[in-house]
Amino acid sequence: MKEYHDALLSWYDNEGRILPWRARGEQTINSYHVWLSEIMLQQTTVATVIPYFLSFIQRWPTFQQLAEASLDDILHAWQGLGYYARARNLHLCAKKIANDYTGKLPTNSDELIKLPGIGPYTAKAIAAIAFNEHVLPVDGNIARILSRMYAISIPLPNGMPEIQNAASAFTPVTRPGDFAQAMMDLGATICVPRTPSCEKCPFQPTCKAHALGIAAELPLKNKKRVRPQKYTVAYILKREDGAILLRKRPENGLLGGMMAVPTSEWQLEKLEGKNIGRDAPFITHWKSLKSHINHSFTHFDLEVEPYYGSICAKKAKILDGDWVFPHQLNHYALPKLFKKIIEISLSKLSTIDVV
Ligand code: ADE
Repeated sequence: MKEYHDALLSWYDNEGRILPWRARGEQTINSYHVWLSEIMLQQTTVATVIPYFLSFIQRWPTFQQLAEASLDDILHAWQGLGYYARARNLHLCAKKIANDYTGKLPTNSDELIKLPGIGPYTAKAIAAIAFNEHVLPVDGNIARILSRMYAISIPLPNGMPEIQNAASAFTPVTRPGDFAQAMMDLGATICVPRTPSCEKCPFQPTCKAHALGIAAELPLKNKKRVRPQKYTVAYILKREDGAILLRKRPENGLLGGMMAVPTSEWQLEKLEGKNIGRDAPFITHWKSLKSHINHSFTHFDLEVEPYYGSICAKKAKILDGDWVFPHQLNHYALPKLFKKIIEISLSKLSTIDVV
């Protein structure tokens, strides 16, 4: 096995990606950078993460500085990265590190996993990369490599325990952090889904799936369940001077704590007819903006239909929330979905004569 570890590590030394959170050669590993990048990389591509990572480390170079930042500033800087619970947990975790751990991350995966926002994969990734713990984190990319190397034909997710066993057996004692990152790069660039470049792969001589000619077909996956389709109405409530109503979404739901236009409950049936205004912030005549915005979340798809209503300044005063003029919208940490809803609604509204 050692010769394959060495083959992968020398491939990584020559071909590995240069990424801003990585220490190479003699560079010192910065555990704050490793932690921050791993949180940002959860469900997000390397290309998307790079500019966010660079702006975060410039603005908040240490755990202490991030801990002292306001959650609103962090959420604002996170805008566009998605999965905003990560930003809230990032702040909680930085505060914990600063207050309970004297500003230093715990150095093993068993301790790391106790911190906010750190699950089993991230704990292992940080422990291996920042502290050279002898573990191999298994994400989709690494599961694909292992399922091919060992020709594991149990469909995922049921095949995962066997893949985890293979990972434990396959982790080298030397340079486990570089090894983990080398596996990530191999999965992202060579051992890719459907069209692997086996001719360039350092593992080719030992890969069982390659020998059997089935690399492109693995890993097998159980048939996906159909994703539920949910519906909601977005209420664009316009004050007579042009400001619109934004409210903070409930802390513990999707996009929790983010500013947004009010919506009806996200549910499996469309609201229709008299029910359109059921969850509206204000009783008025709600008119359709004749537009549909579709958005995919991890576990369901959402279709949003914006409606608009008008309100006078006097009545607007008694509603909770912020009244925001269109030119002020970029001061708010709006999730992508709501940015899109507001953009489309305002452009539709500009073509309608609103009273
Ligand atoms: N995906 C998750 N963690 C990563 C890392 N450290 N480098 C590249 N891709 C990753």
